[in-house]
Amino acid sequence: MRSADLVVAGCRELVTCAGPLPKRGRDMRQVGLVENGWVASSKGVIVFAGNEDDFHSQVSPEPDAATVEARGLLAMPGFIDAHTHLPFAGDRAREFGLRIQGWTYQQLAERGMGIQTTVKATRAASLDDLLALSLKRLDRMLLTGTTTVEAKSGYGLNLDDETKQLEALRDAAALHPVEIVPTFMGAHDIPPEYRDRRDEYVRLLIDSLMPEVRQRGLAEFFDIFCEPSAFSLEETRTLVAAAKAAGFKIKVHADEFVALGGAELAAETGAASAEHLIAVSDEGIARLAASDTAAVLLPGVSFFLMMDKRAPARRLIDAGAAVALASDFNPGSSHICSMPFVLQLGVFTLGLTVEEAINACTGNAAYAVGRHATVGSLEPGKKMDLLLCDVPDHVSLAYEAGRNPVRTVIKNGQVVVEDGRRVGPR
Ligand code: NIG
Ligand code: FE
Repeated sequence: MRSADLVVAGCRELVTCAGPLPKRGRDMRQVGLVENGWVASSKGVIVFAGNEDDFHSQVSPEPDAATVEARGLLAMPGFIDAHTHLPFAGDRAREFGLRIQGWTYQQLAERGMGIQTTVKATRAASLDDLLALSLKRLDRMLLTGTTTVEAKSGYGLNLDDETKQLEALRDAAALHPVEIVPTFMGAHDIPPEYRDRRDEYVRLLIDSLMPEVRQRGLAEFFDIFCEPSAFSLEETRTLVAAAKAAGFKIKVHADEFVALGGAELAAETGAASAEHLIAVSDEGIARLAASDTAAVLLPGVSFFLMMDKRAPARRLIDAGAAVALASDFNPGSSHICSMPFVLQLGVFTLGLTVEEAINACTGNAAYAVGRHATVGSLEPGKKMDLLLCDVPDHVSLAYEAGRNPVRTVIKNGQVVVEDGRRVGPR
């Protein structure tokens, strides 16, 4: 018998997402459904996930074990948001107004707005400001079921302000239950003061920022915006090689608007993920499918930028790529931090089945951030990160479009959201 200090009892549908990760092709349709499911954990680690009969024959709850009655709700793994730009200051509501009048995201960027607007605001913010903003956003994310979030710097674009963003993430991680995977994205754009000497900024990233960030343990991943408006393919190749040598794992913002070949480069260099891929080429799809590099799609961007063009999700899945979904939460191209909404966009705008979208927001997203050994599914040995959702079945996670179904969130075996409200440790 396995002992347990927490039991979640009587889930109408238990969506375990069990199975080897990443899931590819037809396997993405398997979500490991159990009717009348029970889940038990000990010290925050799952010891059992299965049906009621097996629970009673295999688990012996400790005398003072806590029981959460699911009362017919659906249980599923906490969402993993594998791509966000969390610690920024300011907003871009005015630019949003201009976009509604017909200006494009790239036209605004060419006029010194876009990312540069947020760079100004973020440079002007203090560490405390960024920490407070990050904590507020993490609360919002938690209420919609995000239990692990990847978060990037990239609005400082110099040593002090990039490290300030990463320090805000470090401090937020110590104060908030959502687990943060920190990414250094000093290669998000060329800062204005280096516009005419971009080679010097590339050198600064390699010689100064990368070593400092690694030495201080402030980030696990390095990310770069590979796009004509930001970094060329050659610059990306140089920076990715240097980041790998410095000890970073790699992510690439690839082929968002223009098929530069970022997906191919990500696959070739063994990057953990290539992200966006709205414009990815046939060759890029084939290379990703044959690689270990996850294809992280961000349907909030096509939606929020009101683009007709979308990432070729079906073709990527059918080719065998490890497809994940994420919010890309940022002030410009996707001011969206709700993973239920991202799941719904995956179904409604990218043509994923509900099961594929669920795997893309949980297990495959955990794979994209290198956390698949510990989160992303409800299986013995993984963290007790579990959501109770007020929907009759898993299909309704998408069918009830626009709704946040998350009622209870358990993170590391602690109830942190109850009845849709934040409770427990900060
Ligand atoms: O992922 N593409 C580059 N970076 C972000 C947008 C950042 C911004 O607009 O502030 C993205 O879409
Ligand atoms: Fe992004």
